[in-house]
Order: sequence, then C-alpha cells, then structure tokens
Amino acid sequence: MSVPVDPAQIAAAARALESGSLVAFPTETVYGLGADAENPAAVAAIYAAKGRPQDHPVIVHLAPGADLDYWAADIPDEARQLAAAFWPGPLTMILKRAAHIPPAVSGGQDTVGLRCPAHPVAIALLQQFKGGRGGIAAPSANKFGNVSPTTAQHVRDEFGAAGPLAAVLDGGASQVGIESTIVDLSRLASHGPVLLRPGQVSAEAIAAVIDRLPAAPDVAAPRASGTLESHYAPHTPVAMQDTATLQRTLHQLQRSGRKVALIHYSDLPAVHAQARLPDSPDGFAYALYASLRAMDATGAELILVEAPPVGGAWLGVNDRLRRAAHGSSGIVHGLLNHDLV
Ligand code: TXA
Ligand code: MG
Repeated sequence: MSVPVDPAQIAAAARALESGSLVAFPTETVYGLGADAENPAAVAAIYAAKGRPQDHPVIVHLAPGADLDYWAADIPDEARQLAAAFWPGPLTMILKRAAHIPPAVSGGQDTVGLRCPAHPVAIALLQQFKGGRGGIAAPSANKFGNVSPTTAQHVRDEFGAAGPLAAVLDGGASQVGIESTIVDLSRLASHGPVLLRPGQVSAEAIAAVIDRLPAAPDVAAPRASGTLESHYAPHTPVAMQDTATLQRTLHQLQRSGRKVALIHYSDLPAVHAQARLPDSPDGFAYALYASLRAMDATGAELILVEAPPVGGAWLGVNDRLRRAAHGSSGIVHGLLNHDLV
C-alpha cells in the first residue's frame, strides 16, 4: 500500500521544517509530528500541538548515514553496531546528548533518542531537510495519550484540517504499526543496555548483535512517556481477556443488551462491531491501531480484546494493549451489574 513519493511536496515540507513549522510524515512504525530538532521554538510547538508535558523527550530522526557523533557524546561501540544492524529501521537508541544539541528535545535530560526510520518518504524528507544533516524531532502524531496514527487520515483526524501542521505527508499505512523499540545505551557501563519500550526489534535480536541482553527498566532509567501505565488509549474503555473468558463475557454482555466491539484473532461470534486481526505478531501489530480507532468510532460501550499469546515476538503488542486497557479494570463487571439507562 505504498503511495508514490511526490518530490515537490517533500521539498516543500523540508523547507517548512527549516522555517520552524511542523510537518507530519510517515514512518514504518507510526506517523511522526516533526520539527527541526535544533530549533527549540519549533520543538516547543510540538509539545503545544500534542498537549504533551514539556519534560517528555522526543525522538530525533536522522537520515541514513548521518553522523552519530554530531548528535551524541561518549558513544559506545555497541551503539554503532546496532545502528549498522538495524538502521534504517524501528530501533531508537538513547545516548548521551552532545553538548550543543538543545536540551528541549530531551525534556531537559542529558540524553538524546536517535533513530533512522525505514520509510521512503521519511528518508527522502530527511535527505532534503538541511541537506541531510539535520535531525527531525518527532513524537507520534497524536494528541498526548491517544492511539498513535498509522495513516495520514488518522493524523488529520487527530489535528483537524486547519490544525497546527504545515503539511501531512501521505506515505500509506505504516507497515510495522507499533512504535519503535527503545533501548537505553546512555548508562551502558554501569547498567548495561536497558529496554525502555518493546517493539518489533526484540531484545534477543539486540543481544545477537551486541552480545548483551537488554534488561527491563529500573527506577533510575530515563523517562519515556510511551512507558506510562495509561497510554495509546482509545476513548472507549478497553478490556483484554483470554479466549475462554472472553467468550463467556461476550455472551453475558450481549444478553444484557450491551454494545461491544471486539478485536480478536480466533473464530468468535458476530457482535455489534468487530475487527479480526491476523494471528501473527507482525500482522496483529500492523492492524492494531487502525482497529482500535475503528472500534472506538462504533459507539460501543466497551472494546473487548482477545488477549494475544504471551512471549517473545508478542511483547510489543501486549505492552501496547496493556496500556490501552489501563484504567478500565472493572469495566466488564460494571457493565454487567448496572441497569441500562
Ligand atoms: O516509532 C517511533 O518511535 C515513533 C516514530 C514517529 O518514530 N515515535 C514515537 O515517538 O513513538 P513518541 O514521542 O510518541 O515516543 C517516543 C518515546 C517516548 O516515550 C519518549 O519519552 C522516549 O521515546 N524518548 C525519546 N527521547 C528519549 C530520551 N532522551 N530518554 C528517554 N526516553 C526518550
Ligand atoms: Mg507517542
């Protein structure tokens, strides 16, 4: 589903970024809301547009072959090995920030998150912007806490037609579908590599390159908003249940006249609205956010999700679903035990 790259549109978007405007662009993971990483006022405009707290760092996107030493300091060999192995691709590395890079991109922390995205439109934009030597600071192009966008239409739905964006580049549906893996290498000597956010690049794949398995975050790990307990959430409450429990719940909810939207991968009965996803981790991740948005728009009282298998390649999907469902505990019980109004 790739959309042809329009060079004139990309050149105009690069000029807009250079003049301090915001541009939304596709990546292979999700769409980003971009600004010149070295322009603190432009970075501040991202925070304002998203409604995101100022102390949350954003990822800096770099063109293929960009000079890591320009952006980061004290770079361990492991970072260069991971960049060689996974860039362009869905891996973000947290490194010590070079002294001349404005602290605005890292919410005042002394680190910087770097990634080279693998999407032809993102790469073309990065190559045009500041002659390929710039960095585009870009969080996911959604309002803070919402589900990340995986199409240009999702971005327009988030910000409206006359919103704060100079352009929304359309690169089709994001192929990975969930955000990049984040690995912290800024404290490698003392803490080893730390996995701040799981994604398509697994801890095992990282270990295969640097010979060290990233650990789960400790309390002193750099803060990442994508690791908040409640995040990536639709407006409708979300509950996740194993297949057998979910079948019973569905039956009970339907008997009491409740409107349920279902996201599943097994054979299950028809309900008010449903999205059946592939039963592979990559296929499920690809379709997940579009399904959450679609089910959110059905007027259902609850989005019930069939819990995917646990384990290795499903880690990223389970992580996002857990955050989407956070704060909705007790919702099924509540719907079953209150009279319809
Ligand atoms: O796939 C992705 O990573 C997408 C696309 C657009 O590249 N971007 C994305 O950005 O998901 P965002 O801002 O929604 O999530 C980035 C995460 C946040 O949780 C942020 O806190 C963390 O990366 N992060 C960025 N720089 C960091 C830093 N210096 N230290 C710790 N966490 C950082
Ligand atoms: Mg985000």
